[in-house]
Amino acid sequence: MEEERLLTETLSRHSVNPDRWPLIIEHLNILKEHDEATYRHSIRVGTLAAQIGAYLDMNAKALLWAGLFHDIGKALIDNALLAKKDRFTDDDRKNMEPHVEIGFRLLMQWKNVWSAHIMKYHHRFSQHPYPQTVPRPTESFARDKEQIFMAHGRILALADYYDALMTRDNERSGKLLSPEEKRAQYLKDNADQKELILELERAGILTFATKAFPAQ
Ligand SMILES: [Fe+2]
Ligand SMILES: [Fe+2]
Repeated sequence: MEEERLLTETLSRHSVNPDRWPLIIEHLNILKEHDEATYRHSIRVGTLAAQIGAYLDMNAKALLWAGLFHDIGKALIDNALLAKKDRFTDDDRKNMEPHVEIGFRLLMQWKNVWSAHIMKYHHRFSQHPYPQTVPRPTESFARDKEQIFMAHGRILALADYYDALMTRDNERSGKLLSPEEKRAQYLKDNADQKELILELERAGILTFATKAFPAQ
């Protein structure tokens, strides 16, 4: 499968310690068994977030971990909700929310403090931002890094939104939009990042002309 090759390539490119590969693959496989679309999405988002991070000289490896596991909490969310193609109701959103905290706790348990504090922001820049409050770092080395974590979280949110828009076929993201319409929607919904998006487009990191992967 395309995404599995991508995962191996990405883990090598960003020099993830091979000792950690089994942990990564095992946990992604739990997600794969529950919801394959989210599994594939997670690999693509991790790869893209890391690629943007490397281009911007940010912490690409932390972005990779944050991207791979940003939606791991969905392994505990009802399949019917994950597969829902209609717009989310307030109740749906409330039921979806815990996936952020579940993923945050898992990454903290693995002592991936950077990634945990990045991933907690991945829904904070959307139209319906959540969670309401994000957990603050307690580790002394991380306490003054909230702004940096948030800046990385903004990148993760950009990668997450891009992948949903380009690959998902539902009412919430990108259904029946032409490539031009998708580009326009992406720029409109991420207006604060317009200059960066245009730069990433020029660099060939974000492309709207063709889908990188077939629709799910
Ligand atoms: Fe999410
Ligand atoms: Fe996501």
